[in-house]
Amino acid sequence: MRIGVLTGGGDCPGLNAVIRAVVRKGEGEYGHNLVGFRYGWRGVVEAQMTDLTIANTRGILHRGGTILGTSRTNPYKSDDGVPRVLDTLRREHIDALVTVGGEDTLGVASKLIDDGLRIVGVPKTIDNDLYATDFTFGFNTAVQIATDAIDRLHTTAESHDRVMVIEVMGRNAGWIATFAGMAGGADVILIPEEPFDIDDVCERIRHRHRRGARFSIVAVAEGALPKEGTMVIQEAELDQFGHARLGGIGTLLQNEIEGRTGFETRVTILGHIQRGGTPTAYDRVLATRFGVEAIDAVHEGDFGTMVALRGPDIVRVPLSDAVKELKTVDRRIYDVASVFFG
Ligand code: F6P
Repeated sequence: MRIGVLTGGGDCPGLNAVIRAVVRKGEGEYGHNLVGFRYGWRGVVEAQMTDLTIANTRGILHRGGTILGTSRTNPYKSDDGVPRVLDTLRREHIDALVTVGGEDTLGVASKLIDDGLRIVGVPKTIDNDLYATDFTFGFNTAVQIATDAIDRLHTTAESHDRVMVIEVMGRNAGWIATFAGMAGGADVILIPEEPFDIDDVCERIRHRHRRGARFSIVAVAEGALPKEGTMVIQEAELDQFGHARLGGIGTLLQNEIEGRTGFETRVTILGHIQRGGTPTAYDRVLATRFGVEAIDAVHEGDFGTMVALRGPDIVRVPLSDAVKELKTVDRRIYDVASVFFG
């Protein structure tokens, strides 16, 4: 078989580990030809390709980002996008695709399956908000980076008697904020799933200070929102999938907290630091297991599926299940984190 591989959406630690695994087993054990499409769906639309071989995918396991490049191109956003995808795949004799991405990239894959394409999906996102898998690869790395950042911010918070606000990624789901906040001992964690009341946030901080604490750490997901009518926030620009380009809630919180409590407050917006650099061992292993399962699924003709982690097992689930809704933070985990608030 001639099998295409693409990585779409935001880059993510572990993408190269998936590519390496797909190629190693696909070429080495099954004798398939592997072809990489550059820049996600854009590479399929524009027929930008590169051969993937065991030789040229050596030494990439530990490298962040993706050797194939990525983009947020959505072929359904232009009139000729999907016909061009179908044309490229036919002209290049691509029998099947391994599509590595989050809800947007896999959402496109799921629609293309209805057009008869033979696709297996691999769940990627630092946000961990893909349904049908317990965890996506990249999330563990992002949480570790954010936890390390909170640990460092503690130093300045303690030394200067400050409130330190740390804004982490997570536009629709607060997984990174919840996990890193819990691991880093944050005193308040704000996530998109639980609209916050700024009065409550400030009261928690004052309460800590009344009990003798001289500093506080507030972890906030970029997509966290105040309860309606409690704070003014700005409209953000939208990307091709209609997602807002976020980043800014931390700064608003800094100003509100300092203005309302009188405590000196600083914000750190962690941004793309969370997506960069080398994947943790956990993510390398998960990405490798996903990659091997994905090429097994292609080899067996089990298309329209996504590989997923369920408990200790790697399983295959219908791709349509994975994109039908977002996986938001498990309330029970957030409740554990909230035991330590204020
Ligand atoms: O989807 C992953 C993610 O890192 C989100 O957490 C974040 O909102 C978004 O990507 C940022 O996208 P970009 O890199 O396009 O600014």
